[in-house]
Amino acid sequence: MIGTNRSRIELLDGRVSKRLSRLHLRSEAALTRAAHAASLESGFYYVPRVLDADEERGVLVLEFLPDATPLSAWLGSDREMEMLLLAARALAHAHDHVASHLHAVECTEAVAVHGDYNLTNVCYQSGTGRLLIFDWNVPPMFQRQGFFGPAEFDIACFLRALLLSPRRGISRQERAGRAAEFVEAYETARGRRLNRIMLESLLTKVVSRGARRQLGQLKLRSLGKSICLLHTLRREAQRGR
Ligand SMILES: Nc1ncnc2c1ncn2[C@@H]1O[C@H](COP(=O)(O)OP(=O)(O)O)[C@@H](O)[C@H]1O
Ligand SMILES: [Mg+2]
Repeated sequence: MIGTNRSRIELLDGRVSKRLSRLHLRSEAALTRAAHAASLESGFYYVPRVLDADEERGVLVLEFLPDATPLSAWLGSDREMEMLLLAARALAHAHDHVASHLHAVECTEAVAVHGDYNLTNVCYQSGTGRLLIFDWNVPPMFQRQGFFGPAEFDIACFLRALLLSPRRGISRQERAGRAAEFVEAYETARGRRLNRIMLESLLTKVVSRGARRQLGQLKLRSLGKSICLLHTLRREAQRGR
């Protein structure tokens, strides 16, 4: 067994089997196939190939990728920032290219969202120097629109994971600074700015109630609507609140 959810993920004969409901299976298989095709074009990140999607049994079979170290394990190491910037560039590439492999409605503003872009679904494979991205699924709130949603959703998921992860030998101020660098790297890679107001409201939405209590310290929800979220976080952290 591997993975975070032991009852669902199984390693068998060099293949990974993932148990899913029928509804999730179809969309996760389609999104993972499209993301795999995009990852081949990128050359610097990789998404496992779908070997089988058995709708009757509700099993998705993926090729097994060895040596996947989750980004959470790189936090606090001297390669942390390198990993975060890689994750930003990979997400930017996926947002620009996965949709074209979905053969779905053309959509200019929205992107094919990953759905759960965080520090465990994004791994680094030291042997190849590639980023591995797992667990492509469409969040329920976007299911009616097919695969599409705002790019800010994936960014908000990643920032939540980063800001709430245990701080290994790093201050909150530094962590906020790194989150800001992640956003800047993503924007540079895509050549467009994220909508700060949307990002701020999604960040509040994707945070659980317990986590929200923690984030209260960062005064996340009180951030002014028109202010750039991350620069504010930086300033707050500098003031040592
Ligand atoms: N094809 C694969 N090869 C290697 N490791 C995998 C593969 N698929 C998943 N994993 C590992 O298992 C973890 C859990 O799988 P994931 O698809 O994210 O399931 P869940 O929906 O339970 O989070 C991933 O974070 C990754 O570390
Ligand atoms: Mg996962």
